[in-house]
Amino acid sequence: MVKEERFVCPYKVYDREDELAPQDAELMRRAHEATKNSYAPYSKFYVGAAVRLANGVVVTGSNVENAAYPSGLCAERVAMFAAMAQYPGVALEALAVTAHSATKTIDEPVAPCGACRQVMVEVEQLSKQPLRVMCQGETGPIMVFDGIESLMPFIFLDKFL
Ligand code: THU
Repeated sequence: MVKEERFVCPYKVYDREDELAPQDAELMRRAHEATKNSYAPYSKFYVGAAVRLANGVVVTGSNVENAAYPSGLCAERVAMFAAMAQYPGVALEALAVTAHSATKTIDEPVAPCGACRQVMVEVEQLSKQPLRVMCQGETGPIMVFDGIESLMPFIFLDKFL
């Protein structure tokens, strides 16, 4: 017997930053600011991320590329790893990501890549609370995921090991 099933992926869409809770709007502002620190001479796709920790601290990250392409790292992982390295044991409660490009206007939300989502899974587990992920383009609506499960179905978990 075959059962057809569906994965439900709830998220919210906000038309503007000022509709977010003030600290989430501020986190998105910090992500936009972080795009300025992006080192992306190859893709010219400038990504910024900002994570807010449970102690209120915000840590930002930008994508850092390399002539040996796979050696670079996404903005989200730069931000999450920096936060974990600087504040070990402190939960991460929210992450904002945005980007702009030298070649086109990005007016739809920038969704994190799969590898970053996999890292978010472990960050959320360690944090013992849902990780809110907020995505925006250079302009345009903001997608908000109240926990990584909405972004990452059928997660690979350490329990499989
Ligand atoms: N990039 C990110 O920083 N985050 C993502 O979620 C997707 C892609 C970066 C990696 C690379 O520097 C550039 O964007 C183009 O892929």
